[in-house]
Amino acid sequence: MEESNPFSPTFPVNPKYFANRKDILSSFRKSFDRSKKTERPTPDNIAILGDCGVGKTSVLRKFEAIALEEFKDRKVFSAIIGFTPISCNSFNSIFQKVVDEISGNFVTNTPVTTEMRNEIKDWRTKSIGAGTKAESEGAKRDESATRIFRDALIELWKILEKRGIDTGLLMLDDAHYLIIGCPDALSEIRTLFQELPKNGCNFILCITGRGDIFSDVKGHNGIFATFFNIKYTLNPFKLNEVRDALLTPLKMSGLDLTVNESVIEKIHDLTMGCPVFINFIMRELVCLKEKGRITLGDFEKNYRTIITSMGAERFQSDFSIASSKEREILLAMSKLSDRFSPSDISIKDARSHLRFLIKKGLIVKHERGKYSLYHPFFKEYLRSLGDK
Ligand SMILES: Nc1ncnc2c1ncn2[C@@H]1O[C@H](COP(=O)(O)OP(=O)(O)OP(=O)(O)O)[C@@H](O)[C@H]1O
Ligand SMILES: [Mg+2]
Repeated sequence: MEESNPFSPTFPVNPKYFANRKDILSSFRKSFDRSKKTERPTPDNIAILGDCGVGKTSVLRKFEAIALEEFKDRKVFSAIIGFTPISCNSFNSIFQKVVDEISGNFVTNTPVTTEMRNEIKDWRTKSIGAGTKAESEGAKRDESATRIFRDALIELWKILEKRGIDTGLLMLDDAHYLIIGCPDALSEIRTLFQELPKNGCNFILCITGRGDIFSDVKGHNGIFATFFNIKYTLNPFKLNEVRDALLTPLKMSGLDLTVNESVIEKIHDLTMGCPVFINFIMRELVCLKEKGRITLGDFEKNYRTIITSMGAERFQSDFSIASSKEREILLAMSKLSDRFSPSDISIKDARSHLRFLIKKGLIVKHERGKYSLYHPFFKEYLRSLGDK
């Protein structure tokens, strides 16, 4: 049956249109298969790293679909917890976010009875109450806050186990935000997850984050490397992967459309293989015709519309997270060559702002002290602002 436009740059990809990433999916399948419930379970811990828009949340959604649909003999409970900077002000706010999202958004391949829903609701109320009480008594990132978090997950496991669930999948998306407001949060989460299997809990932990997430936690880099026994960095798509990311959704959604090879090459060149920009382009191109081939001429005629939609839907908000001084620096950067040195920026003190711009994902540092804006499309957007 024909479906609506399968491309969306603003949502993670529907798992049925998921393309590429065969290695990490096969590691996940093996990992899930061996993380079985026993008296003393040994679930894996998985870290997926990558830049903004490269496909981290999509991988988590695909993991969830695999666990629920492919392992018919397993009873699975899964929740994806998406962090934002605002949800990470304190260890207690992180804990509350986790509890809230588990109770509100969990999925399972077992029947969900009213009784189960009510039990999870009660678990939420009790857990949040305990966290708030501890916080008001002065516990922040110390032992008691971590203990409350751990005990809440043990309680949750008891509820699940009673219903025959054998595997929990807890996925913390965009975990780099955790360390902004709470530098020890990742270390504390690691400590409490290490204790869960001793209490019989079979929770597989998956986190996603920017590539430098572990190096930001001072002195703990090595500890994380061993704790997350599966660690995988998502790279932008190569040409053959771009082809797959275009053609798989077209085919799976039943649209009678294909894309000329020259368009695929052009998209690969311009997007540098970044999935989010591939989706911006394809969303517009798919609207052009009901069937047939999308040609280079179609692409070129619609290029300005595509760029305008990227500006309105993505780059405006990227630009808005920069301070006014940072905006001035970004505009100056857009006039330089693609790779530039700090000394090329003719703004006083620009150098001291670079690391904040990196943290915000707006610029990238390359080898030998060279920098670039995070994507050529962003550069084009900034230049258009500068011209106004
Ligand atoms: N494997 C994939 N196959 C097809 N499309 C994908 C794939 N991965 C990502 N995409 C597309 O790329 C875009 C970005 O994906 P996603 O939101 O998962 O990235 P992200 O790394 O989580 O982004 P952010 O850093 O903004 O949270 C979406 O439009 C999604 O549809
Ligand atoms: Mg995401």
